Amino acid sequence: YHFCPFSLAICLLVLSSCSGVQSALDPAGREADAVATLFWVMVAGGGLIWLCVMGAFLFAGRFKTQPLTERRAGGIIVFGGVAFPVVVLAGLIAYAGWLMPAMRPWFAGEGEGLRRIEITAEQYWWRVRYLDDKGQVLRESANEVFMPVDERVLFVLKAKDVIHSFWIPSLGGKMDAIPGRVNNLQLEATKTGSYRGVCAEFCGTAHALMAFTVEVLEKQAFEDWLRPKASSTPVSAAQTPDAGGLDAFLKNGCGACHAIDGTQAQGAIGPNLTGFGTRPTVAAGTLPNTTGHLIRFIKTPDLIKPGVNMPSYNMLLQAEVEAISLYLKGLK
Ligand code: CUA
Repeated sequence: YHFCPFSLAICLLVLSSCSGVQSALDPAGREADAVATLFWVMVAGGGLIWLCVMGAFLFAGRFKTQPLTERRAGGIIVFGGVAFPVVVLAGLIAYAGWLMPAMRPWFAGEGEGLRRIEITAEQYWWRVRYLDDKGQVLRESANEVFMPVDERVLFVLKAKDVIHSFWIPSLGGKMDAIPGRVNNLQLEATKTGSYRGVCAEFCGTAHALMAFTVEVLEKQAFEDWLRPKASSTPVSAAQTPDAGGLDAFLKNGCGACHAIDGTQAQGAIGPNLTGFGTRPTVAAGTLPNTTGHLIRFIKTPDLIKPGVNMPSYNMLLQAEVEAISLYLKGLK
């Protein structure tokens, strides 16, 4: 035996990914808890099997010179080759089945009565709509999911173009979003905080640049975000002191694709930009939300996100792009 720094480095690297905003092994929700538990039970089961196989291997070495009787060899094969794996694997599979969401006491069937958040995956971003009991849209956002803590939420998953997959590792398993189909995913966050979600199905050139943030808030904070007081957000967004930015935004036709509540910009093709200044990232989790990144993205989106549907606005005057970026960054 000798100390191997390389394998130690690999172990540390693997373990270092066990915590953080995007780890299935650092659960912050009921489903994620089950996934993490299943993982560790499977690791333990696999470890036990490995130890038994290694034990049998060492044990077999003793019979190099004095072969076993046929009867004894047969017994070992029946026990080690049939009985042991059948019992251990059946135990593990039964446990895995018992951990399935549908077997949990908190599983809400088809999800009637749960709060619904409709997610539409598009190349390469996420449209997020918060629905009321009647299915009316209360608020629309993009690339950020707000949800209340300790409440089961039904994510209604749709896709506009190709198959994507909606995954928040800290909160639970993934579910595909498929064009022409509606998939339901129930998640329940048990800890407030910021998490990261990703697209988990290859969907084109910018698949890796299709992430979103998840903010799990206390119930009241979530309600305040969902239904901003008339005096705060949308309306005042139109009256921000930086009106030159809004003018440039509208004059250059940005409002044909993007909506900003409380303004004339009501486009429904691209991401809704209401409250954009508070989003942590630009371009669906690609870059931190700074005016510098915003300017680069508006001028040359394809350089930041290959295959993005937003056209380049390199022809705008620098002053206009800067004004638009400052305006968007100021939206609360
Ligand atoms: Cu969307 Cu990968």
